[in-house]
Amino acid sequence: MNNLAKRVLERFKSSYESEPLLFFSPGRVNLIGEHTDYNNGFVLPAAIDKAIVLALAKNDTGLMRLQSIDMQPKFHSRKMSKNHFKSGIDWADYIIGVIDELQKAGYDIDEGFDCVFGGDVPIGAGLSSSAALEGGVAYGLSKLFDLNVSRLELTKISQKAENNFVGVQCGIMDQFASIHGKEKSVIKLDCLSLEHEYYPFEWDDVCILLCDTKVRRTLAGSEYNVRRQQCEEGVRIIKETYPQVESLRDVTFEMLTEHQEKMDEVVYRRCMYVLNENKRVLDACQDLMDSNLPSFGARMYQSHYGLRDNYEVSCDELNHLVDATEDLDSVLGSRMMGGGFGGCTINLVKTDEIENIQAKIEEYYKGKTGESPGFHVVKIGEGTHELELTKAHQ
Ligand code: GLA
Repeated sequence: MNNLAKRVLERFKSSYESEPLLFFSPGRVNLIGEHTDYNNGFVLPAAIDKAIVLALAKNDTGLMRLQSIDMQPKFHSRKMSKNHFKSGIDWADYIIGVIDELQKAGYDIDEGFDCVFGGDVPIGAGLSSSAALEGGVAYGLSKLFDLNVSRLELTKISQKAENNFVGVQCGIMDQFASIHGKEKSVIKLDCLSLEHEYYPFEWDDVCILLCDTKVRRTLAGSEYNVRRQQCEEGVRIIKETYPQVESLRDVTFEMLTEHQEKMDEVVYRRCMYVLNENKRVLDACQDLMDSNLPSFGARMYQSHYGLRDNYEVSCDELNHLVDATEDLDSVLGSRMMGGGFGGCTINLVKTDEIENIQAKIEEYYKGKTGESPGFHVVKIGEGTHELELTKAHQ
């Protein structure tokens, strides 16, 4: 991490005269609770030790000058204004989208500024590198311009940037986890009330292993929106009998089965998955209170099967990575993570068996696909925060 901060700072100093502020904004994992956030349900994510680091300083040029240290093209610069248009550069649009939403929320950002950033969150792997960038920009600009925006508002602004400017209809989980993460803890987030609670998540003998299909999620955007519509369709049908129902969060198992005949079979399965997954998150939190990791892990498998068979957002590669662990006693739980159709599985594994586990998974996956998966052992870390410059120099 230090190394990344150093690289960002060095690039900033070789490009601009001023002394910047430095910010750390992490990616996230999600232990359980997938595709529940936009249904006003429960999720259990955590910030991780892979992050985006940004250096920010005001300039008096009236321009925003943006620079990525590891993506192409490296530069984007434009006049500060209140009317924003897309840049055609993915990474720049996340930044401009956040500025647009901050301004729409009434925060005054009209002075120019310089921004240099880099990261070690794998892109497109389901670890929310985009939320990390959005949250880092929102938090950093709030500090730089003394805007005093709360973490909750920064979260909403970052999500809106993605919804409105970038055009991806994501829920709130990724931005929330990145901005609110806490070391050694998972966050139980109620996506309806946005109330959240931290559960300790640190074990001497168990760690989090991500297995990367290396399949980048091409279908994710369109299918994601289709799933959202199918859930809304289920709500619409149930609402005819129960007008108080606003989202799947208000739907009970009894209400759903009562309406099974009126629904398309696919819509029914989507809704059933969401109801089950919400229940699994609550039960998994109880497992954590009981320190019952085997039971927690078993629910991760159930979550995967639901995502694979009923929500249908998995893919062969993700299924192979989960299948590869099924006979391994040293793997407590395994499931696809994030939007689906590629990216990573998240696995709870016995730390002292990790090499053996990786070798077994690799052998299985290679046998099925001819390719090797990627592996990342991740630690749960702090949410978005400012870094001390002196530490980056060390
Ligand atoms: C993506 C979205 C999140 C969430 C997950 C699925 O990561 O950005 O809001 O919906 O998919 O759980």
